[in-house]
Amino acid sequence: MAETLHISRQLSKEEKYKALLPQLKALLHGETDEVANLANTAAALWETFRFFWVGFYLIKDAELVLGPFQGPVACTRIAFGRGVCGAAWKERKTLIVPDVAQFPGHIACNSRSKSEIVVPLFKHGEIYGVLDIDSDRPGAFDEIDAKYLEKTAEFITV
Ligand code: SME
Repeated sequence: MAETLHISRQLSKEEKYKALLPQLKALLHGETDEVANLANTAAALWETFRFFWVGFYLIKDAELVLGPFQGPVACTRIAFGRGVCGAAWKERKTLIVPDVAQFPGHIACNSRSKSEIVVPLFKHGEIYGVLDIDSDRPGAFDEIDAKYLEKTAEFITV
């Protein structure tokens, strides 16, 4: 497919996810390179929603290490159980944090980040990283984001 997304600015959040997912799936189809697919996924999510920060941390030598992302420069390494990303890794589940200031141990890579969602990535049942999205607005993420980002996480697995 052409490397262009077609998503109307007028759509609701859920409608944007519904429009984005098949286009992203087509964009990733046939490509097996992990960096290429994670980079295009981060870019597609940023292009659609203009999130403050969207990107990946991948498990390497028992730490989360920064992967492809869109947004300001970020922390490069996160330990197991640390911050929202490390907690999502430990708990192997999606975490929605409406107010990062209230999350014990939140890692503030950027003081403008106010709310966050972290979705674990699984390959053959094993967690291999997380998708992390930050907003500069409090309470930006809900069950709609969780539902569609988990679907996204399923098909970006390479
Ligand atoms: N806030 C995250 C760290 C990563 S940055 O937001 C990009 C955390 O607490 O795990």
